[in-house]
Amino acid sequence: MAPRKIIIDTDPGQDDAVAILLALASPEEIDVLGITAVAGNVPLPLTAKNARIVCELAGKPGTKVFAGCDAPLKRKLVTAEHVHGKTGLDGPQLPEPKMALQAAHGVDFIIDTLRREPKGSVTLCPLGPLTNIATAFRRAPDIVERVQEIVLMGGAYFEVGNITPAAEFNIYVDPEAAEIVFKSGVPLVVMPLDVTHKVLTTAPRIQAFRAMGTEAGRMVAEWTDFFERFDKEKYGSNGAPLHDPCVIAWLLQPGLFKGRHINVEIETQSELTLGMTVADWWGVTDRAPNAVFIGDVDADGFFALLTDRISRL
Ligand code: RIB
Ligand code: CA
Repeated sequence: MAPRKIIIDTDPGQDDAVAILLALASPEEIDVLGITAVAGNVPLPLTAKNARIVCELAGKPGTKVFAGCDAPLKRKLVTAEHVHGKTGLDGPQLPEPKMALQAAHGVDFIIDTLRREPKGSVTLCPLGPLTNIATAFRRAPDIVERVQEIVLMGGAYFEVGNITPAAEFNIYVDPEAAEIVFKSGVPLVVMPLDVTHKVLTTAPRIQAFRAMGTEAGRMVAEWTDFFERFDKEKYGSNGAPLHDPCVIAWLLQPGLFKGRHINVEIETQSELTLGMTVADWWGVTDRAPNAVFIGDVDADGFFALLTDRISRL
């Protein structure tokens, strides 16, 4: 079977970095047409630099990396250095990237790619705020029906918020963008905190990365060592949740995950619950289902997949 063509839209972030490594380590199943950076965990210059660092770590300096939007559609950018550190990839010492950024804007790359590739043949994989995707849809409405599927990390229902009591970070940073994407009609698969909080980097799992004896394995171990501080402190959890790699793992082994096709709407008005994903998990409204909202995962199977693939780099 031909590999699935994807665009990764990302705000690296240690967990984004692991997701990118997982995708680049799986060329038989995934063809990464390009990576578009967006402002999120850290400002755009850093996310665009970090995406290139990760591609070079994966031994794929030919990957096309584009800088996209540097701020949400209408709000001030909120970043997450308290989680990811000042560079966005704190933990290990990292070399400056040698590979250049592509000249085109990330949004133009998304539009041009969807217009060029056969209709329904490209999957979008947003791992950060949805600003680039929403901007592309607004600027070129003709591309919306050409998207095969959007598989994104964002939102929360039973887990509630991680940046406010009600909202998960990716949705909270740009709720208007999220509303455009969730109302676009494009088939959606959503990886909320409900599932990502179930894939924690426990000590044995981090040790498995260290034991690889590879640069990639060492980086993943050091990134997760750094990244887990926030969740351990806040939730008392036993390791860091690998949020974004859930998106790529779903592409590789969807059977690891369980979810429901339900209606999910985005709060964009109330300051109190801004960015909340209002998921009709129990079907109490007559609102039409618009997303497969994932609630469960075989965590051991997820880490077996992740460890196997990262060890290939
Ligand atoms: O809330 C978790 C999400 O926000 C992840 O994508 C993480 O990288 C940050 O972007
Ligand atoms: Ca992210």
